[in-house]
Amino acid sequence: MRIGILTAGGDCPGINAAIRGVGKTAILEHSMEVIGISSGFLGLINEEYVTLDEGVLSGILTVGGTILGTSRENPFKKGSSFNAIDKPKLIKKHYQELGLDALVCIGGNGTQRTAAMLSEEGLNVIGIPKTIDNDVWGTDVTFGFDSALWIATEAIDRLHTTANSHKRIMVIEVMGHHAGWLALYSGIAGGGDVILLPEIGFDVNYVARCLKRRAVNKKPYSIVVVAEGINTPKGESAGGYIANSIKELTGLETRETILGYIQRGGSPSPMDRVLATRYGAYAVELIARKKFGQMVSLKGDTVTSVPLPEVGGKLRLVPPDSALIDKARKMGICFGSENC
Ligand code: F6P
Repeated sequence: MRIGILTAGGDCPGINAAIRGVGKTAILEHSMEVIGISSGFLGLINEEYVTLDEGVLSGILTVGGTILGTSRENPFKKGSSFNAIDKPKLIKKHYQELGLDALVCIGGNGTQRTAAMLSEEGLNVIGIPKTIDNDVWGTDVTFGFDSALWIATEAIDRLHTTANSHKRIMVIEVMGHHAGWLALYSGIAGGGDVILLPEIGFDVNYVARCLKRRAVNKKPYSIVVVAEGINTPKGESAGGYIANSIKELTGLETRETILGYIQRGGSPSPMDRVLATRYGAYAVELIARKKFGQMVSLKGDTVTSVPLPEVGGKLRLVPPDSALIDKARKMGICFGSENC
C-alpha cells in the first residue's frame, strides 16, 4: 500500500513525532510506501511531494514544527468567482495519479473538517488530532497541548519573581483560539490569582475588586492569566484590554505579556512525543484494517478512533461547571465573576 501524509493548520511541537510514528509503523510493520505532502492540502493541489523513507524519518522525533511544512489552505472554501479551479476535484485527481491507498491528515478542527469532506468525496482518509488549543472534538487531548502548557507555565513561573520585585499586577495572555484549556491549565499550574476564559463571562469590575482586595490584604503582587479568545472590544488584544482595565479601575501598577507563538515552538514534551507516536502508529493500524473515514483519538488512556463526520467543525470547549474550575474557585482563584 502507498499512503500520503500531510500536516495542516497551526503548527505545534509533536507533529514530526506523529509523522515518524506513521512512517516507521507503515514501513517496518506493513512494508508500505510513505509519501509526504508539502504545506497541508496545498501540496495536493500543487503536486508537491517527498518520499518519506527511514533516512528522512530518522532524528525527527524531537524536532519542533513539521518537516513537511503546513498551511491553512481550505480547498472547500468558496473562493472568489475567478478562482476557476475546483480544488477538491484537483486533490482527488492528484490523489489518484499519485496512486495513494490512503491519506493521513494531521491537524486541528479545520483540518479534520476538510478531511471529513474529502472522505465524502471518496478518498480513504484518516485524521490525527493536533493543536496546542486542545479543542478538537472527539478526543480527550490533542498532542501539542502538553508542550504549550509547559511553555506557558514556565513563563508564568518567571512572572512571579518580577511581579514580586516590583509589587505589580502581571497580566499574561496565552493562546487557545476560542477555547480556554491552555489558560485554565497554565493558570492553575502557574499559580494564577485570576484566570479569564472565553467559556466564562467576566466583568472587569469583579476582576478589579478581587485585585484590590488582594492588595488591601497585603498580597504584594497578583498574576492574571488571560485566554486570547475572551470577549474584548474590537481591535484590542485580550491581554492589553485586561491590563488597561485593571490600571484604570484599581490604580495598581500593571504590565502585560503576550506569550504568542513561543507556545507553538521548540521540541515537544515527552508526553507529546509519546502521544503523537501512539496516534501515528494507530492511524496505520486503521489503514491496514481499511477502516477509513476515522480520526484517531484518546479516551482515557486508550487510543481509539471516532468517525470523522462527528468531529468536523465542532469545538471541544472548557465546561464552565467542571470540577477543576469548582476546586479552583474554592481555593480563591477568581474567574472574573461572582466569587470576587
Ligand atoms: O490553533 C493554534 C493557534 O496558535 C491558536 O492558538 C492561535 O489563535 C492561532 O493558531 C494563530 O493562527 P496563525 O498561526 O495563523 O497566526
